[in-house]
Amino acid sequence: MALLEIKNLTLYIDTGDDTTVKALEKVNLTLNEGEIRALVGESGSGKSLVVRCIIGAIPDYWSIKADRITYNGQDLLNMSYEKRRQIMRREIAVVFQEPTSSLDPSVTIGEQIEESIPPEFIDKGWFWEKNRQRKQIAIGLIHKVGIRDHARYLNAYPHEIPKDVSQKIMIAMALASEPKILIADDSTRGMESTTKTQILRLLVKLNKTKKLAILFVSHDLLAITSIAQSMTVLYCGQTVESGKTRSLLKRPLHPYTKALLDSAPSFQVSLAPKSPLVALDGTIPTLQHLPAGCRLGPRCPNARKECVQVPAPRSIQEHTYSCHFPLHMPEKLSTKPPRMAQGLTATSYEDD
Ligand SMILES: Nc1ncnc2c1ncn2[C@@H]1O[C@H](COP(=O)(O)OP(=O)(O)OP(=O)(O)O)[C@@H](O)[C@H]1O
Ligand code: SF4
Ligand SMILES: [Mg+2]
Repeated sequence: MALLEIKNLTLYIDTGDDTTVKALEKVNLTLNEGEIRALVGESGSGKSLVVRCIIGAIPDYWSIKADRITYNGQDLLNMSYEKRRQIMRREIAVVFQEPTSSLDPSVTIGEQIEESIPPEFIDKGWFWEKNRQRKQIAIGLIHKVGIRDHARYLNAYPHEIPKDVSQKIMIAMALASEPKILIADDSTRGMESTTKTQILRLLVKLNKTKKLAILFVSHDLLAITSIAQSMTVLYCGQTVESGKTRSLLKRPLHPYTKALLDSAPSFQVSLAPKSPLVALDGTIPTLQHLPAGCRLGPRCPNARKECVQVPAPRSIQEHTYSCHFPLHMPEKLSTKPPRMAQGLTATSYEDD
């Protein structure tokens, strides 16, 4: 059973001019126990909105429709507020995109880490014993994320510490409740490469040693391919392809995934020096001007009239794609009436 499962998630948001748009449309995502899955897509594709739907940080005037959003088999959408809060407090932790705005500027780092430790982790005793225990746990958490000099940071305020240390502190706070899932929403954005490598190594270590499942949200393909076993590609609020990272890199079936990989020089083995990088024409549409059907349509080199219908997801083993005319597929097979993703099998292409 998947640890986290999202099936056909649609998010309606109010754009402010009396119109409602589908910011996310039929998004599917699965995170298995002990897995690192990347959620990848360009800026504005809806990655953070998916995270907000998982944690329930959606304003009342937006609405969610989904076949299911489950954590460990429990329906997150229909459970009580208290139960959901309990799961978010203990089982699913999030590290947000911007660490400096997530930390309270008026409280020291040490106090903020101590506050994130669930009270049930502290033994009964006199208040000074509890305080001492809390401090020890906070120091342990700081060491766990690779900061050795805890004395330097525990009494500091957020504005007094560098951004990369803030990011590690955020991860330390997220780990305080010993969660089963860590969602890292673009937590390495804008970091210089040494710090980024440290954070990525830390995530891999936590995944291996603590069996922590990680949803790594990013548009950094190099980082993704270095840590994620599987990936889900999002374009303009629609999931376009998902599967093992190895399979997607070797043989992307969706034109957007291919364009995304081709646009990164590191994935272009045959690229001669100074040759232009491949990029799709146009830009990601705004929410007010979404095309009908497949949202890649206006930018897609393979688009045809059938693409005005939203393509249903189809699967070949663990590789799922949503496209009427996938790459590397005989036309007859690609235009066959779509079948739902689950339980589909076809010939393997792993050994091509
Ligand atoms: N509070 C909001 N009100 C209205 N529109 C929003 C809001 N938050 C996000 N959006 C819109 O939803 C779309 C997806 O935004 P989102 O922040 O999820 O993108 P993202 O993939 O996380 O991008 P980035 O990589 O830049 O973080 C964008 O078009 C954005 O403008
Ligand atoms: S469904 Fe059509 S427009 Fe969309 S990616 Fe496939 S070929 Fe392109
Ligand atoms: Mg984001």
